[in-house]
Amino acid sequence: MDPKNKTKIVLITGGSRGIGKSIAISAAKRGIDVILTYNSNPEQGRAVANEINDNGGKAVALHLDTSRTDTFDGFADQVSHLLKSEWSRNHFDYLVNNAGIAQRSLIKDTTEEIFDKIVNVNFKGVFFLTQKLSSLITDGGQIINISSALARFAFPGVAVYGALKSALEGLTRYFAKEYAERKIRVNSVAPGTIDTDFGGGKGDESHRKQLASMNALGRLGQADDVGDFVASMLSDDSRFVNAQRIEVGGGIMI
Ligand SMILES: NC(=O)c1ccc[n+]([C@@H]2O[C@H](COP(=O)([O-])OP(=O)(O)OC[C@H]3O[C@@H](n4cnc5c(N)ncnc54)[C@H](OP(=O)(O)O)[C@@H]3O)[C@@H](O)[C@H]2O)c1
Repeated sequence: MDPKNKTKIVLITGGSRGIGKSIAISAAKRGIDVILTYNSNPEQGRAVANEINDNGGKAVALHLDTSRTDTFDGFADQVSHLLKSEWSRNHFDYLVNNAGIAQRSLIKDTTEEIFDKIVNVNFKGVFFLTQKLSSLITDGGQIINISSALARFAFPGVAVYGALKSALEGLTRYFAKEYAERKIRVNSVAPGTIDTDFGGGKGDESHRKQLASMNALGRLGQADDVGDFVASMLSDDSRFVNAQRIEVGGGIMI
């Protein structure tokens, strides 16, 4: 049994940079303990955990490649051992499926290799990681899938990415349906154009201005615009919000 009135724990994939890092730091500021994952850059992952630990929070960084479904059983075991050794617990409270990769190829140039890579990280990985970790999530906990405004409209060069984010929003509803028996809520948060290194960054000044002009607030989003919002959902204040898509994009394409 996990202790009552315990500190909440969130597991965030891709918590070493950009939006995931912001979610981790903002959650820690709200008193939530953090397990974050990195893929290619262990130093950045550990630096985020150190920043949280140095500021009175508690965080651990683990390696995870969300395209490697064959490693997910081992990762779930690692999380289970970590929960016991660091928190004397069997469960964590919130899962944020944030890790993702971009696409920059027109349909005519999209190879099967590019297609499979994006599917594996942005959709298949989310499905099977959630499946493998679900027994470690507290009943009454929450899952948040990071989608994209591109799930709602189309631009050239991101067909597979955008279609998969739409699929992820559909999957969010199916997760919510099946995990409802354990009162686990599942929502998706869809960022607009956020100024991170995603897909190589947001380009030169004129491109950035064009992207900024696409939303009603007239600016590029910052990682903290999304991170603070997602962290704010990790509480009982959102207790009746379930199976929803919430866009954080400053009113993009309205
Ligand atoms: N930025 C935007 O404009 C925007 C807009 C809409 C939606 N989103 C979504 O927001 C999420 C985060 O994007 P971001 O802008 O923060 O991206 P980012 O700055 O590029 O950071 C990506 C994060 O994901 C991790 N990652 C990449 N490939 C991975 C893999 N195969 N396995 C596990 N982790 C992996 C990276 O870890 P390493 O560095 O260690 O490899 C990093 O922590 C993504 O799902 C993205 O689709 C972003």
